[in-house]
Amino acid sequence: MENTGTIILDLSYLLAAIMFVIGLKLMSHPESSKRGNFWAAAGMLLAMITTLILHKDETGQNIPLSNAILIIAVISVATVVGAIIARKIKMTAMPQLVSLYNATGGLASALVAFMEFSNPENSSTLVTVLGLVIGSIAFSGSMVAYGKLDSMVGDWFTPVLTYINLLILTSLVAASIYISVAVNPFMDINILFYILFAVALVYGVMFVMPIGGADMPVVISLLNSLTGIAAAMAGFIYHNQAMILGGIFVGAAGTILTILMCRAMNRSLINVIIGAFGGGGTAKSDKEVGTIKEISLSDASVLLNYTQKVVIVPGYGLAAAQAQHICSELDKLLTDRGVEVKYAIHPVAGRMPGHMNVLLAEADVPYEKLVEMDDINPDLPNTDVVIVIGANDVVNPAALDDPSSPIFGMPIIKVHEARNIIVMKRGMGKGYAAIENYLFYNDKTRMLFGNAKDTLQKLVSEIKNL
Ligand code: TAP
Repeated sequence: MENTGTIILDLSYLLAAIMFVIGLKLMSHPESSKRGNFWAAAGMLLAMITTLILHKDETGQNIPLSNAILIIAVISVATVVGAIIARKIKMTAMPQLVSLYNATGGLASALVAFMEFSNPENSSTLVTVLGLVIGSIAFSGSMVAYGKLDSMVGDWFTPVLTYINLLILTSLVAASIYISVAVNPFMDINILFYILFAVALVYGVMFVMPIGGADMPVVISLLNSLTGIAAAMAGFIYHNQAMILGGIFVGAAGTILTILMCRAMNRSLINVIIGAFGGGGTAKSDKEVGTIKEISLSDASVLLNYTQKVVIVPGYGLAAAQAQHICSELDKLLTDRGVEVKYAIHPVAGRMPGHMNVLLAEADVPYEKLVEMDDINPDLPNTDVVIVIGANDVVNPAALDDPSSPIFGMPIIKVHEARNIIVMKRGMGKGYAAIENYLFYNDKTRMLFGNAKDTLQKLVSEIKNL
């Protein structure tokens, strides 16, 4: 009977793992991503329920009823809080939410390691130490990332910080190995463990503090993968396959995303880990670079109506204005009149990975119309009109030709190569990287000022009247 329970538990973990994989697969496309979330969440629910009912400790005892009640109470409160936050959170504040979730995941794993360090029979010391270090870095780093995304914390960069961070990281690795292998440590092992905990927390703060400019997305994704790895370590501590697999999936997905984003932004992973990019540079672009020209709504509508090829570049401002539906209406209107309309998608446009894809999918823009940056760039010199809607950093040519710019080296959508450029934004506000944008002063650029949603609404009415 005992064996049957263990077998059912193991099978339920296997089933949960399969559901995680199905969930991940479905999450790779905006149209199926909701179902993907559902599958993964259902897998996690299954693992939790079967653990509560069937888990046995070394003495063969089930989870005591009082503990089970406590666990259910905590899960229920957390579920309600999570559901309320998820309903209330604005799409534009999603990255902050992701950072907070990363922080809680990292902290939970670090606390598991903390509690179990005095129980070495549970698992190897190395695993416990790794869980503690990685979880603590994920926690404090994510809290700083949250503060930065919410504009509560500024960037802090001095070149010497790179060396300090390298030193702390090396010490952390050395101390972790020492604690794990030392037979007769030079001081009380528990005190060493506390020191490691404190240093890991400090490192999390130190490596995120200098990261600025447009580079935060890479860091958020890295912190996400650290949270997953820390959770996997916690799973090893408890010999719990569902936790190990869940952690590995999050860790692997986060790592792949980090590498892809590093490539997309032309940054090296090691620079992210030691917090050595962003901040620093003060672009020469902050000086006055020419005059700007505006375009009237009627001129813009004529230009768009009698053209052949239009590319829309969506950015954070489109999300902030919630202008995706009216943008899709403009697209349909122009398409019906024989204009070819496409969207140029920059990997870090907006405030989180895939932000624009999700936003445009929500407005029923056909997925085939969304073209990745590398694929659309060669096409831009042959494009009649590019409409930039609330995008700034991702179209800033300083990334290509101003080595002193904090975003130098980041690939951009080469909007400046198109024949005509219309930029929709409220005023001359800067983007996330807080630097001037030459594009707005380009001879081919004309500004259409106003809230993106209002401007698009007026533009659609003008075109309908033509
Ligand atoms: P940004 O560079 O942030 O520029 C957005 C522009 O939208 C601003 O210049 C602002 O100008 C305009 N805007 C704001 N509200 C508007 C509204 N209601 N109507 C019209 N315009 C509005 O955006 P981007 O080009 O999408 O670049 C994204 C930036 O965020 C990058 O630097 C990226 O690295 C960073 N970031 C991205 C992520 C991810 S993963 N995507 C995560 C964190 C940070 P006005 O004030 O003049 O209107």
